[in-house]
Amino acid sequence: MLRKFPNNFFWGSATSAHQVEGGNVKNDWYQFEKAGFVKNGEVSGVACDHYNLYKNDFSTAKSLNQNCQRISIEWSRIEPALGEFDVNEIQHYRDVLLELKKLGMTSFVTLHHFTNPIWFSDLGGWVNNESSEYFEEFVYKIILELGSLIDFWITVNEPTLYLGHSYIKGDRPPRKRNIILAYKATQNYIKAHKKAYTAIHKSFPEAKVGIANNFIKYGIPYIPYIPILNPVLNTFSYFWNFYFLDKINKYQDFIGVNYYTSTRFMQVDLGKRKKADGDEEEISKKLNRGFKIYPEGIYYILMRVWRKYRKPIYVTENGLPDCKDKIRQYYIASHLDYIHQAMVKGADVRGYIHWALLDNFEWNHGFGPRFGLCEVDYETLERKPRESAKYYSEICRTGVLKNGYKFRTIR
Ligand code: FCB
Repeated sequence: MLRKFPNNFFWGSATSAHQVEGGNVKNDWYQFEKAGFVKNGEVSGVACDHYNLYKNDFSTAKSLNQNCQRISIEWSRIEPALGEFDVNEIQHYRDVLLELKKLGMTSFVTLHHFTNPIWFSDLGGWVNNESSEYFEEFVYKIILELGSLIDFWITVNEPTLYLGHSYIKGDRPPRKRNIILAYKATQNYIKAHKKAYTAIHKSFPEAKVGIANNFIKYGIPYIPYIPILNPVLNTFSYFWNFYFLDKINKYQDFIGVNYYTSTRFMQVDLGKRKKADGDEEEISKKLNRGFKIYPEGIYYILMRVWRKYRKPIYVTENGLPDCKDKIRQYYIASHLDYIHQAMVKGADVRGYIHWALLDNFEWNHGFGPRFGLCEVDYETLERKPRESAKYYSEICRTGVLKNGYKFRTIR
């Protein structure tokens, strides 16, 4: 089956500052890593040294026919102490954004991707009632110094996942397990987004501002399908998927969809119990780590998001940790197939951004999981596009998905 995407479709890949830059020593993750909380005691260290090698990385992305990049700006570099802004770091990100412009690549820029300056977390982080104002000050600075170079603004990344890890699961900074703190932090994070949205629009009325939201949680082990549990699971999945988006609904110009995987209970929520068949089942079996591939899930998510919000949608993350690159090609093809099916049914999807451009520091899992289209040798820092990157680059070049796989057509 041949699927043609629109000519102006955005094709790209993503990174976040702390995961690739290296040398981030002024944020709460630095402290967390130093205290030994990452798997095998790993620390992000120089990571991929993207801070110095960004030109090389962007030109690789360009040579792979990508026309956009999603990156993030590290708050702790820009504002290393409360109210103190680092002109050299601002210049660095100006250079980064100018480089993308030079290459003719559209930028999707995240302003908060999991990390906080140490001074901010010392003040209580997102639990502090002034946290949204601190964030707003940072955003004002970005607007002033870099705003004209930013194409798409992603204020915050995966709010529910972020706050869930930080304040409920407790496996990421600030390692809390407290529902009241989680609630407070969530309310402040909502305020932070709204303030950022308003501030950006004040300076750039035409700006496109949204968030990247994680849909479908894979951290929860597969809960067996028990109909009586449905109401509970549906409530949980409502909170996971839609609570934050509903809260900020008047303050978003597009919806960023981060979609990775699925669990059975989500399939229940989506009103469909699907047993994988054909190629999908075969390929899913090959995966370990409990990372279950469920490409069809993206179709249901996109349709649901479209019907609920009626706003342009960008897939802002989608990928898998496949170090041998055995399944990534299939993963890309299958998700694009279902994205296209959603578009045919009317969902206004305007771009696909694969996670990630490079292998990188996968938070508390360390460097083990390899999500990159390009493999990174952490000894030499050499990058090498994987076969799947080349496969994807053909799709980016032609806007056409041709594949030999068999996917179900959803009716
Ligand atoms: C998402 C994060 C991203 C990366 C991928 C694998 O939850 O936004 O930084 O860690 O998962």
